[in-house]
Amino acid sequence: MDRERKYRRLDQASPEEIASLKEQAKRSEWRQRFHVQPIMGLLNDPNGFSYYNGKYHLFYQWFPLGTFHGLKYWYHTSSTDLVHWQNKGIAIEPGYSHDAYGAYSGSGIVKDDKLYLMYTGNTRDEEWNRHSYQCMAVMDRVGTITKLDKPLIDRVPDGYTEHFRDPKVWKDEDLFRFVIGAQRDDQTGTAVVYESPDLLDWSCKGEIQTRLEHFGYMWECPDYFELEGQGVLLFSPQGLSPQGDEFRNVYQSGYIAGKPLDRGTLEFEHGSFYELDRGFDFYAPQTMVDEKDRRIMVGWMGLPEVVYPTDSHGWAHCLTLPRTLSFREGKLIQLPVPELELLRETTAMETADTLYSEVKSYAGVEGTVFEMTCEFHGIEADVVGIEFRAGETERTVIWYDAVRQKVTLDRSSSGATIVSDYGTTRTCMLHAKVNSIKFHLFVDISSAEVFVNDGEEVFTSRIFPKQDSRHIRFFAKNGSTGLKVTKWDLAQAVKDIEGDE
Ligand code: FRU
Repeated sequence: MDRERKYRRLDQASPEEIASLKEQAKRSEWRQRFHVQPIMGLLNDPNGFSYYNGKYHLFYQWFPLGTFHGLKYWYHTSSTDLVHWQNKGIAIEPGYSHDAYGAYSGSGIVKDDKLYLMYTGNTRDEEWNRHSYQCMAVMDRVGTITKLDKPLIDRVPDGYTEHFRDPKVWKDEDLFRFVIGAQRDDQTGTAVVYESPDLLDWSCKGEIQTRLEHFGYMWECPDYFELEGQGVLLFSPQGLSPQGDEFRNVYQSGYIAGKPLDRGTLEFEHGSFYELDRGFDFYAPQTMVDEKDRRIMVGWMGLPEVVYPTDSHGWAHCLTLPRTLSFREGKLIQLPVPELELLRETTAMETADTLYSEVKSYAGVEGTVFEMTCEFHGIEADVVGIEFRAGETERTVIWYDAVRQKVTLDRSSSGATIVSDYGTTRTCMLHAKVNSIKFHLFVDISSAEVFVNDGEEVFTSRIFPKQDSRHIRFFAKNGSTGLKVTKWDLAQAVKDIEGDE
């Protein structure tokens, strides 16, 4: 693609072009009802997720003038309840010498009643070599965002390539720290820590010392925090090869957890790397702590290098629902924030039944935008599962294979094709053999998030079915199972408008 098109600024487009791009996105049959999505163009990573001045603030990477990864802006949305999001407009515009080729990902932190946004300025020199700077913008109570005119960090330390980005800042008692994604000169990925007394003056402390010496060629979007006494490093490594059911997407997102990071030596004693999500579309998540002291995570419901059906509708991608994090038996558990109950529009439809080697549906249990819990109990069948967004030829299927102890999501017949080299099913093994299983689904016009066994695993995926694919069917193969279903229709929570209209 030619560079001019790729790095086109919003102010180079006429008001008519912008209006027509917005109109095109608005008309798309796959606009979501309760997920944060761009009014036009391409959304990627969540950025600057924070609680400030009585509101949640959630920014994201945005290229307005196409559905490819062009010149990145930060777009701002805010909410009082994590459910109803208001589009606030552009937060950080790329443009001065240190971020001329993109205001890349970063994070937010509150200090002295202001929200400080740290991000990576991406630039290119005359030979088209990349240079990365760590930059800052400050938001005040009125919502005005001002960029500092100089970068905080104007060079990559020795030993690393210019793939050095995505600072995630936090405050310890004594100092501010951030962790940043990096690529060593030997083309391996890692995470580096900086310290500052005041958020402005930073010094490089070195790499987090993990056991993952050769683990992909670049770690994007790292996030370090402590939860229930454990240290957790989330990151999105690029360059892992598939292993069995694992690492099936183009890039991964996962975590390592263990003893809290030693702030002096940067030693991190940790266990294995676990993928955060088992679906097709989940990347670059970011967490924050809210005023209720909850650790909440949002991810990008998309991945690079995949062609999605809305690309030809002038918009691409959305964010995941916010999820709370906690530990159960040493594993991170993800649950949808309870505020999502605000979306329930109908009183619950409840059904209890027993299935015997059959497929069944129930009057009123159908829809395109819904929440549903489904428990299979006393499972004697080999396989139990659900088909949803189903029509004559389309269906998305999630099932539990009780013999192999595995859950699978199948989007091979979900609707319009997602062009990808990465297959049409995703599978993961559950940690214990069980004869009951619980699925908690949030289904929007073009996505599904399925929480398994109260957050033990989550499958997050875009799907692009027709609007009349609205059936839900429950099945048991080779035996019987008890079934309990509760379903709610969900209300619209996001609007295609900007500001307070
Ligand atoms: C992850 C990422 C980040 C980068 C941003 C650019 O998806 O590549 O590493 O900051 O996207 O949009």
